[in-house]
Formats: sequence, structure tokens, C-alpha cells
Amino acid sequence: MTTLTRLPDDYVQNPHEVHDLLRAEGPVQELQLPRGLKVWLVTRYDEAKLALTAPQVSKNVLEGGHLMAAHSSGEVENREIEPTLSVHMLNMDPPGHTRLRKLVTKAFTARRVELMRPRVQEIAAELLAKLADGDEVDLLEAFAFPLPITVICELLGIPIDNRADFREWSNQLLTFGTAEQVQAAASAMAAFLHQHVTAIAEAEPNDTFFSALVHADDSGDRLSTEELISMAFLLLVAGHETTVNLIGNAVLALLRNPEQLRVLKDRPELIPASTEEFLRLEGPVNVATFRYTKEPLDLGGVTVPAGEIVMVSLIAANRDPEKYENPAQLDVTRSAQGHLAFGHGIHFCLGAPLARLEFDVALTQLLARFPNLSLAAEPETLVWRDSTLIRGLHTLPVRLA
Ligand code: HEM
Repeated sequence: MTTLTRLPDDYVQNPHEVHDLLRAEGPVQELQLPRGLKVWLVTRYDEAKLALTAPQVSKNVLEGGHLMAAHSSGEVENREIEPTLSVHMLNMDPPGHTRLRKLVTKAFTARRVELMRPRVQEIAAELLAKLADGDEVDLLEAFAFPLPITVICELLGIPIDNRADFREWSNQLLTFGTAEQVQAAASAMAAFLHQHVTAIAEAEPNDTFFSALVHADDSGDRLSTEELISMAFLLLVAGHETTVNLIGNAVLALLRNPEQLRVLKDRPELIPASTEEFLRLEGPVNVATFRYTKEPLDLGGVTVPAGEIVMVSLIAANRDPEKYENPAQLDVTRSAQGHLAFGHGIHFCLGAPLARLEFDVALTQLLARFPNLSLAAEPETLVWRDSTLIRGLHTLPVRLA
């Protein structure tokens, strides 16, 4: 019996080093994640794209979710969460996926999202107004977290007072906690969202995004209460755990590359286009969400048998030297088109236009208000969150000036 390679326990602290080794060896490897889950990890760009779209690969959690337990070495605790939070489009294949995505897509067109720009600018300005020159703050806590969570709560009509709870719950759900912590957070989240969806369903329809979704009727087809709860959950979690870390990872990259920071300070009009480079260099999603093979799949000459969990590392694909020259280097003027930070294929991030808008506003305002901001900790002391899904720091201490 061969022993499986196991990713080092401190993998999340330095995933790029590990990915570079794996990528050089082959497009995909069968290995164990730090907590013992056996997966096939894809690290090369071309094969990542293939795995994200191949018809042999499914995202149907109802049918394939049992593989998590089947492939765990016993150390992986039961992470199955409330069924009410799971019936969302990221856990489905067509036609279920097509139906749910269609109902929500209209609200997230680039044009519709662009109309939100003034409000996003206002929220960012209010947050920055609370900070002063000379302050030493955790930029995630003071700015990068409250901006997207405020935006997504407003979209869903959720009172802002609940945002600390949400942060806690979603943190528990996405990082390695105990089974009890995960269950407790999931139940609390499900109960809150159930109450919220019911209240909106009973109220008179209004022109807010979530009210429109609750009352949406597509030729007689409506979202059930359970589907609405799952949809709200997906939007809340996807809508803030990611954007906060895109902002954080980008600011860290800039503070570690002063000559690149200078380019953006001198030419802020480059910020919108540079978003793609920040997404490529250190996107906030490491491995894409759960996928498994329904049939054998050939990935660059390696056959993944049926019934295997396939994990696609987006941050590894985005640093494939076959695709991007000098991939570990931040270059705010490069064309980073084609990066996979938002995924690829039918599950491509629905919130991409909103995420790009939030990032553009956040970085533009931050650099304009505090052009001399600097790191207030040695880069080596910064700690990354214990998650294979989310690539983001625990804290980002900065000095404002
Ligand atoms: C920088 C910010 C963001 C990044 C990097 C990001 C990344 C991703 C990725 C990689 C996927 C696909 C996952 C997979 O295929 O396994 C995805 C899907 C999704 N994202 Fe985002 N996301 C971001 C922000 C947002 C925002 C702001 C929202 C909502 C307001 C959002 C909503 C969604 C939804 C609903 C899906 C599921 C789409 C589907 O299954 O068809 N995301 N996102």
C-alpha cells in the first residue's frame, strides 16, 4: 500500500511554496489535506480550468456529500451543515443550478451593480472618516470587513446590528472548528435567516433586491422558503468573506512592494484594471468549493477515478508560470486576464461585478486618504486563517498616515 502525501500542517501559512512543488511534479495529485481528507488537488492552470467545467465532475452535494466522510481519515469532523443552508446553487448541477441562478442573476448584472457605486463610496468614506493619521489599526477590522458586510446586509435588508454575529458564524463555518462549533453556528445562522425571510415574505413587496427575490415569480416558479434561506446564506458568506480578504491581501502585497504602491498612488486611474492582478496574485479563494468525479476524468494524462473529491486550487492555477510570466511578482500594470480567482464555467462568481466595484472604491479611497500608510508588523509575523477555502489574514496591522 502506498502512503499518501499529506500537506504539511502549516500549509495555509505558505501554500504557494507547496503549490510550486506540486505543480512542477504534475497537474494533479492524490493527497491528504492537513486534517486528513483525501482529495485530488489540481494546481496547474489548464487542468484547473478543465476540472471546473468537465461534465464528469459534479457539485451535487446531496448525491456526493457522503464522499467527505468516506475519504476522511477519521480526523475530519462532520462538517455537514444545516440542510436549510445547503440548497443553494453552488451545491447543484443543472437543471437545479440553472433555475436558481436565473432567478438571482438579473439583480447582479454589471449595470445594476454600477448603480450601487455612490452608496458603496459613501460607506467607504464613512468608515475612513472614523480613522485618523497616526492611528495603528487592524485594517481588516476597521475597513476591509465592515465595507462588504454593510453592502451585502443592505442588499439583503438585514439590520446592520447583526453583522458581528454574522462574522462570528461565518468564520466558524469556513475555518477548522470543532463539529459542535460548526453546528451551533449553522443553527444560529439558519434560525436568523428563517425569521428574516419570513418577515420579508409577509411584508408588502418593495423595490429592494431581496424583497424582489422573495416575491420573484418566474412563470409560476417561486423560490421556496428553504431555497431563499440558502440563497441568503450563500450571498452573505460569499459576499463578504471573499471581498474583505481581497482588500486585505492586496494592501499587504502593495505594502510589501513599495514601487508598485507608488505606481497606483501616482496613477489612481490604474486601480480598476489592477483589480485583476490582485485577484490573480493573491485571490481570497484558495481551493474552489466541493466537487467530485461522477466518471473517470483525464487531467493532463492523470486519470482521476470516479467517486473522488476534486479540489481545484485557484491560487495555484493563478501562479502557473506556463500561464503568467514571473507569477509571484505583483505587477499592477500587467494584463492578468484569464485568472481563475472568480472560478470558471457555470459557477463563475455571480458577485464578480460587485466585488470589483467594492475593491476599486476601497483601494481608491484608502490610498487617497492615507497615502503613506505602512505595515505595523513584520510581514513574517502575520498569520493566515486556518482554512483551505479562504486565503486571508487574521489581522493586518497598519499605521495610518
Ligand atoms: C473578491 C471577491 C470574490 C471572489 C474572489 C469570489 C470568488 C468566487 C468563486 C471562486 C466562486 C466559484 C466557486 C466554485 O466554483 O467552486 C464564486 C461563486 C459565487 N459567488 Fe463569489 N466571490 C467574490 C465575491 C462575491 C460577492 C460579493 C458575491 C455576492 C454578492 C458573490 C456571490 C457568489 C455566488 C452566489 C456564487 C455561486 C455561483 C454559482 O454557483 O453559480 N461572490 N465566487
